[in-house]
Amino acid sequence: MLRETTLSPADLIWPIFVCEGTGISEDIPTLPGVQRLSIDRAIPALAHMKELGIPATAVFPVPGDHVRTEDGKEAFRPDNLICRAVSAVKDAHPDLGVIGDVALDPYTTSGQDGIERDGRVLNDETVAALTRQALVLAKAGCDIVAPSDMMDGRVGAIRKVLDLDGHEEVAILAYTAKYCSAFYGPFRDAVGSSATLGTRNKATYQMDPANRAEAIREAALDIEEGADMIMVKPGLPYLDIIRDLSDRFDVPTFAYHVSGEYAMLAAAANTGAIDFQAGLMESLTALKRAGARGILSYGALEAAEILGDHA
Ligand code: PBG
Repeated sequence: MLRETTLSPADLIWPIFVCEGTGISEDIPTLPGVQRLSIDRAIPALAHMKELGIPATAVFPVPGDHVRTEDGKEAFRPDNLICRAVSAVKDAHPDLGVIGDVALDPYTTSGQDGIERDGRVLNDETVAALTRQALVLAKAGCDIVAPSDMMDGRVGAIRKVLDLDGHEEVAILAYTAKYCSAFYGPFRDAVGSSATLGTRNKATYQMDPANRAEAIREAALDIEEGADMIMVKPGLPYLDIIRDLSDRFDVPTFAYHVSGEYAMLAAAANTGAIDFQAGLMESLTALKRAGARGILSYGALEAAEILGDHA
């Protein structure tokens, strides 16, 4: 009766990794409990997700290093892995929400989210590539495109290109306050960009963890440019930012409970230090309490199962 925050499977989004091939379900050593799935394996996994009441998935491609080029042009090839995955998922589950990531990191030889030349990531050239990527994702059937690249001006440019091509109904979930974080390590292992990125970092475009006012400025810009939803990432280290943005802006604020947060819980559970299920539910509840309307989590299925058992 007195509980202020209740979590439901409808609040959750399940991120998955898709790879080439068939019959593949491959463990990711630094992200225990999460697998890379070939498209034929992803479809039944998503059927299960839907049965649990989770409305949407965020699909990340693991195309392999052989597709990487300096300009990342594989990102906008209409028949690339992610486009085939998205259209197969929409064919199998038309009523399931599919979110496509807009960024070049699976496709660049630098492992950067943008086009790198002479050691610099070029903002405007990257934005042009991202608009083409968003367009192939929309054509493949994504309901939502989610620019995670943090280039300036990309939301407006993507909105314009989508509208011109008749995709007014495709929504934009902007990674608005994406911090330059150590907590993305397992994700980069999962998509094979850790080794590619090497000693580079993304500090020229991702945000300084010390900054709060900047998140508010970024959100105002993204919304003005046409973002339908904004996101804070990572989640738990940035609860104050989730609260700031959700209080201040009318568009829904989402949180990404990222790979490193999930891996920390899994590692602690492994040594018996923390009860995994309790730690997961507490984390997700805290994100919602801070103001997140939707939460991306690798623990979405486990959380929905727990919530179902208690219904
Ligand atoms: C890349 C991207 C990243 C994540 C989502 N999209 C990693 C990065 O910026 O290097 C991180 C997600 C996670 O850690 O779970 N554009």
